[in-house]
Amino acid sequence: MKNTVLTIMEQKIKKDKITMLTAYDYTTARLMDESGVNSILVGDSLGMVILGYEDTLSVTMEDMIHHTKAVARGCRHALVIADMPFMSYQTSVYDAVIHAGQLIKEGRAQAVKLEGGEQVCPQIKAITEASIPVVAHIGLTPQSVNTFGGYKVQGRDEKAARQLLKDAKAVEEAGAFAVVLECVPDKLAAVITESIHIPTIGIGAGPDCDGQVLVYQDMLSMYSEFKPKFVKSFANLGDMMTAAFKQYIEETKAGIFPGKEHVFSIADEIIEKLY
Ligand code: KIV
Repeated sequence: MKNTVLTIMEQKIKKDKITMLTAYDYTTARLMDESGVNSILVGDSLGMVILGYEDTLSVTMEDMIHHTKAVARGCRHALVIADMPFMSYQTSVYDAVIHAGQLIKEGRAQAVKLEGGEQVCPQIKAITEASIPVVAHIGLTPQSVNTFGGYKVQGRDEKAARQLLKDAKAVEEAGAFAVVLECVPDKLAAVITESIHIPTIGIGAGPDCDGQVLVYQDMLSMYSEFKPKFVKSFANLGDMMTAAFKQYIEETKAGIFPGKEHVFSIADEIIEKLY
């Protein structure tokens, strides 16, 4: 079954939890798609986990289009959502629509995601009116790391909690079909989830959200720089990869690899003629 904006929205009504993972390349996207994940997010987290920057701020439209194209080619069933990078939508409503359009036309995403609440509602409205589905993202919005002074849990005091609830209602009103809640206390996420009609997708926002999203390098323990509290390690691929790389180096140096089964043959007479 192909996941669409409509099927994702229906999952909230049916209380069928929405599963979303990030991916940035064809092979990983294909494996995830075959596993049955509902949606794949080409997150601007690629700045950190793929490109090695310390935050997401340097990610460009070119980076996003390049990786979105690869992911889209690997997906038959999952809904592909592309992140709008820093400064591709904050500058103006016009910029937002043009850049969202590029992610759909060139990247072949089926929806875009952008960070912010009330302050980006004009952008959400305009992009939606251009027939491009939008996922909003509130709470800890990594593109605002310099304003927040670090990656901190959001919405912990009454004023901030009220603002997040207001933001969630505003992005719904502006036309977003889903909203990511990042690093929000679980009980606040539950209140927000109950108070709006569009699905909430949590990352560090507890089990009462309508769905969950994780960065795949985090859930497979492949990215050691930073491990947020909300991440569960579903497999330790980082250690498995390091062990495999070490074994390859040892076997190559010892002449064990390549073995007989890995080589192509040729008749001895032909070789003899070469001397
Ligand atoms: O960029 C990203 O991967 C994200 C998720 C953490 C939601 O925005």
